[in-house]
Amino acid sequence: MTSSRRKLVAGNWKMNGLTASMAELVEMCDANPSNCDVLVCPPFPLIGRFVGSAGNSHIEIGAQDCHTAESGAHTGDVSAALLKDVGASAVIVGHSERRADHGESSALIKAKAEAAHANGLTAIVCIGETEAQRDAGNAETLVTAQMRESLPSGATAANTVVAYEPVWAIGTGRTPTTEQIAAMHSALRAALVADLGDEGNGIRLLYGGSVKPNNAAEIFAIDDVDGGLIGGASLKAADFLGIVNAA
Ligand code: 13P
Repeated sequence: MTSSRRKLVAGNWKMNGLTASMAELVEMCDANPSNCDVLVCPPFPLIGRFVGSAGNSHIEIGAQDCHTAESGAHTGDVSAALLKDVGASAVIVGHSERRADHGESSALIKAKAEAAHANGLTAIVCIGETEAQRDAGNAETLVTAQMRESLPSGATAANTVVAYEPVWAIGTGRTPTTEQIAAMHSALRAALVADLGDEGNGIRLLYGGSVKPNNAAEIFAIDDVDGGLIGGASLKAADFLGIVNAA
């Protein structure tokens, strides 16, 4: 049932990297892994250069956010149309750091994902609970509801990826147990299939939060985990390739 979903390992560089970081991307592209789909999402100013550098490899380049509008008076924002124009193939929307730092709501994230689709970009929609919410004992219910509020209309297996990232596991070195990840991904899959039928069965569900070369294989082997969204360990080619090779 799950075999049709090719794994995806996506690197989210967040606000890290300078032009010199191109050397890490070059090393990743030289290795040119083909066992799974690979995406690297650097900060906006590096996207064009990264697209050029990755051109002859299987590695695709994405962004970390987009605006809902096509263009206009939105100082400091970047449109999905421009991301597409400079060669990005995907955009992360709704990362918990944007929800927290910029007060982004699920309704806004849904609109951003729809703008991504309108411009031919894959939307990687992030969801996840805080530690307090997990401790309260209703993480699956809460995250499933967050996914339903954030998913764009017209979501398909080809244009949408969901990334489950427990906020308390991001950058902390702590990961949920295998059972906790399995329970969450199974609840999310059930909701996707209930809402979208067979299409929901094809949408990839990534896990993110302290994925490292030494725990990636165990996490990627969990049912309904279709790859990972990697933060810190995506900045160095050796670490990222170690994770990619585990997929
Ligand atoms: P870390 O891999 O650094 O925990 O970050 C995960 C993340 O937020 C990816 O989007």
